[in-house]
Amino acid sequence: MELTFYGHSCFKIVSPQGKKILIDPWVSNPQAPKNVDLGPYDYILITHAHGDHLGDAIKLARTSVTQVIAIHEIQQYLLSKGVPNAIGMNIGGSYRSNGLTFTMVMALHSSSLPDGSYGGEPCGFVITLENGLRVYHAGDTGLFYDMKLIGELYQPEVALIPIGDHYVMGPREAAKACQLIKPKFVIPMHYQTFPILTGTVEEFKAFLSEEDYQPEVIVLRPGESFILK
Ligand code: NI
Ligand code: MN
Repeated sequence: MELTFYGHSCFKIVSPQGKKILIDPWVSNPQAPKNVDLGPYDYILITHAHGDHLGDAIKLARTSVTQVIAIHEIQQYLLSKGVPNAIGMNIGGSYRSNGLTFTMVMALHSSSLPDGSYGGEPCGFVITLENGLRVYHAGDTGLFYDMKLIGELYQPEVALIPIGDHYVMGPREAAKACQLIKPKFVIPMHYQTFPILTGTVEEFKAFLSEEDYQPEVIVLRPGESFILK
């Protein structure tokens, strides 16, 4: 698989069978590279309704080729905005399609739609690719102990973890999250997009060095890719 960081919490994954997945489709974020792939994607996943995650979903999901996967309340919102192919699901369940499995897991955060109404619960996703590789996108979240269950049940090789602090986990909490999830690789996200997201990779690595379990930290600058076979 090839995983490309588009800045903030936005990632593109190309699966072993060539399916294109976009997570938290804010492709117009301030960190975004110039050569963002604007699709069409096979799948767009949305962790919660805040503008920095819902992002450019409506623009990118105009064709029914693209399945948008989100919690029920966001799906209803997207359908009302004319998105043709939105799949609603909820936490704990999995949606299977074309040899891929999308499992919605909990996140500790809030979620409101652009009009201020309830956007359902925030979530993370575990994506199981055709070859069994698993990627966990934690969404926006604080640290919670049930991350241990996510680690035990799904054993993700790669975890995408927020480290920016203020609205999400900071570096210290993110280092502890790695102890619960135990991914082989961790990729920090949701930091330095705005001045208030102060967490740094250096702090994250420093806190991690004090812990028992040491995943490999992969730092992607926007536009860079990580390839895993
Ligand atoms: Ni948020
Ligand atoms: Mn956010």
